[in-house]
Amino acid sequence: MDDPYRLPTTVLPARYDLKLEPDLERFTFKGEETITVTIREPVSEILLNAVELEIHEVSAGDARDRVVRGTTTVDEKTERARLSFPEALAPGEWRLTLTFTGVLTDKLHGFYRSRYKDANGNERYLAATQFEATDARRAFPCWDEPDKKAVFQVTLVIDASLVAISNSRVLREEPVPGKAGKKAVTFADSIKMSTYLVAFVVGELEATEPVRVNGTPIRVWCILGKQRLAHVALEIAAYSLRFFQEYYGIPYPGDKLDLIAIPDFASGAMENLGAITFRETALLVDRQAATHSEIERVAVVVAHENAHMWFGDLVTMAWWNGLWLNEAFATFMEMLAVDAWKPEWETWVAFGVSRASAFAVDGLQSTRPIEFQVTAPKDADAMFDVLTYEKGAAVLRMLQQHLGHDRFRDGVNRYLKKHAHANADTRDLWAALGEASGQPIPDVMDAWIFRGGYPVVTARREGKQLVLSQKRFTYLPCDDPQVWKIPVGVKMKVNDALVTKKLLLEDPEIRIDVGGTLGWVVVNEGGHGFYRVRYAPDLQSALENELESLPPIERFQLVADAWAATVAGLVPVNEYLDLTEKFRNETDKNVWSVIIGSLGYLNRVIDPEARPRLEALVRDRLSPVVARLGWSPPAAENDLRRQLRGDLLRSLGTLGNDQNVHGKARELYARVQDDPSAADPNVVPALIHILAHAGEEAEYQEFSGKFKRATTPQEEQRYLYSLAGFRQPPLLQRTLEKTINGEIRTQDAPFVVRSILTSVYGRELAWRFVKEQWEAMERLFPSKAGIRRMCEGITALATPELEADVKQFFTSRRIDLGGKTLEQYMEQLHIATVFKARETAALTAYLSSRVLKNTC
Ligand code: BES
Ligand code: ZN
Repeated sequence: MDDPYRLPTTVLPARYDLKLEPDLERFTFKGEETITVTIREPVSEILLNAVELEIHEVSAGDARDRVVRGTTTVDEKTERARLSFPEALAPGEWRLTLTFTGVLTDKLHGFYRSRYKDANGNERYLAATQFEATDARRAFPCWDEPDKKAVFQVTLVIDASLVAISNSRVLREEPVPGKAGKKAVTFADSIKMSTYLVAFVVGELEATEPVRVNGTPIRVWCILGKQRLAHVALEIAAYSLRFFQEYYGIPYPGDKLDLIAIPDFASGAMENLGAITFRETALLVDRQAATHSEIERVAVVVAHENAHMWFGDLVTMAWWNGLWLNEAFATFMEMLAVDAWKPEWETWVAFGVSRASAFAVDGLQSTRPIEFQVTAPKDADAMFDVLTYEKGAAVLRMLQQHLGHDRFRDGVNRYLKKHAHANADTRDLWAALGEASGQPIPDVMDAWIFRGGYPVVTARREGKQLVLSQKRFTYLPCDDPQVWKIPVGVKMKVNDALVTKKLLLEDPEIRIDVGGTLGWVVVNEGGHGFYRVRYAPDLQSALENELESLPPIERFQLVADAWAATVAGLVPVNEYLDLTEKFRNETDKNVWSVIIGSLGYLNRVIDPEARPRLEALVRDRLSPVVARLGWSPPAAENDLRRQLRGDLLRSLGTLGNDQNVHGKARELYARVQDDPSAADPNVVPALIHILAHAGEEAEYQEFSGKFKRATTPQEEQRYLYSLAGFRQPPLLQRTLEKTINGEIRTQDAPFVVRSILTSVYGRELAWRFVKEQWEAMERLFPSKAGIRRMCEGITALATPELEADVKQFFTSRRIDLGGKTLEQYMEQLHIATVFKARETAALTAYLSSRVLKNTC
């Protein structure tokens, strides 16, 4: 029992009867709970979790109603309460009754308050909860560990004019004797579930009419007046709930499903069983006025949280080291559902882009395995990263392709059925998948889950043989002899025929007799595998001549792998830039996103004098497609093409600093003010960002005002981030000030600072601001997660001086961002400064030697 972070298991909870009374004027709450526990050996002390709560009275009652009064102390450091009794409590069932009080803070965790303005501009508050990972203990004393599942019955005592939402249906609402104007809302028993999934929301909220899926009513809740923005969410919520019931063959485990938009919310959304909470941009959207990406965001988040109702809520990881069993699955399932809902969105190609961020972190020496040791709460929080989500989902996708859809699904179903209402770990998943497929799962999968990093597969031609070899990929040199069992899909042109092959690459090298002349080869066919590919020069150029015949995901992977090799110093930068020239006719938005991302990276390492030439290169690469697409879509154009137009225009106007684009954007933006239909909705955010980039004081004032007066969450967000896109330091300084003076919500502030940290015009300013305001930010931003997200921006401070300063700052203050986060940021920054030192000369020479078209 030495572990200060795990509770002893001599006493285990089975049921919580919870009564809470929030005060939305004083921002406090009163609580009373009875926890039914089983005592397994005589104890006179009981440890459970509590933090920032004042516990007043404690008693324990046994089955014969004998009551023993106790006392408590709370240790804020270990986040525990110790209940002490004057005598030992005998083994058996006991009821612990506690009364306590707490504060509704503005830290967006625990039981907290959220502020907003009503239709008349008056300030209002609501109360909401966010408990994952370890913050249920801030709202009520509890066994706050995921495997201490229990049944919860919640009663909320609130003003008669307000509504209360919790995980299950309302059983009854009744007046409270002696409390005029108050009502007690009692909810049905929950299923047996983990504490981090409990939720309560209290405020002046309204709901849509319910939509029913197999009897389950689904509603969207929001502050008054926003219901018109709930259509997309309701549609995907109903679709995905049905989809998952069918896929899993298990009914939805709750008795109703509420989706609730909270004006202040730390993450994107939270899968509280039956009471999913969201930040507004992830739930409410105007289908007519939003971009494809904004609508897709709502669909993805809703489907993700719905997937959690099974993965996470019904079956829960035993401890936080297994978080991937929740999050990787929800991410994977979210894509299955959205892909089935809107096949034309090409979800799995889009996943290539999000997976790229996992490739980036997992290519670091300081990466971590997907499953990773967690002790302190801050390390649990640090697990919510691209390795858990994106690498985890990518590895599941690879396994699904390897086993086949049906066997994979059978294994998943077995796993869910076997561990329903309980907890599981990775071994349990392997066992279920093994039973369903008859294959040795751990043998293939362990290295992907329990070890960090991933391989690069190299392909070369030797006579009539294709030789594939593997080795770990890292950006900085790393001698790691480990090999993976890699499910490899190969597609090749042999003589005149197209041949595909699936194999398991287990050795450092294998030779494949192709049985003819190998014209070209694509390794990682369909892009399902979590590995990179390097082609020998002859195979690389053969493939570059075949671009038109490759599907988007393979073109995407070709560029992404080439770019990674460039950052790692394996491919000279001029070769990469020559490659991008072959993509001047590209029309896939995901392929463009990797190209634009790489040009943005170059912009951050290049010397300022050379920037105009890089801008010219950007114009050279982007202009031909923009010219073809024009500024407005033809009638039947699909959503992806429309979004691409927006993305390209934005980059051409900002990264390419194209004066013509500035002029046109100004003109079109003015027209849109009078007639919103003057531009396609996908283009409007691009106009705003271009005008900010090219703008000055007048635009700054205008956009600040529009940010304040926005009528949809998306509009608010566009104008907010535009304030980070100006180039004049005094304007950016004003934006920075707004992140700590209350003008920007603390849910957004860390991201705005991060955005300026990555701007070549604002990064020095922003870094100075971060150093000066560190204490203020720690105090204001939502828990540690805000600071962690903000600090990601330091990876863009790509000069040796800044790197040294960053290092000095974090070491001298002994800052710990949880897990390996800080190490990873520092390594990414180092990779950028090494790249700068190594490539600047070649890059500048390249830019000077080329006569670039469209230099305007
Ligand atoms: N369980 C998470 C929410 C969460 C994140 C809780 C971090 C505690 C710490 C939720 O299911 C989630 O993953 N939300 C994502 C959105 C999703 C679509 C990837 C988020 O909040 O970004
Ligand atoms: Zn999730």
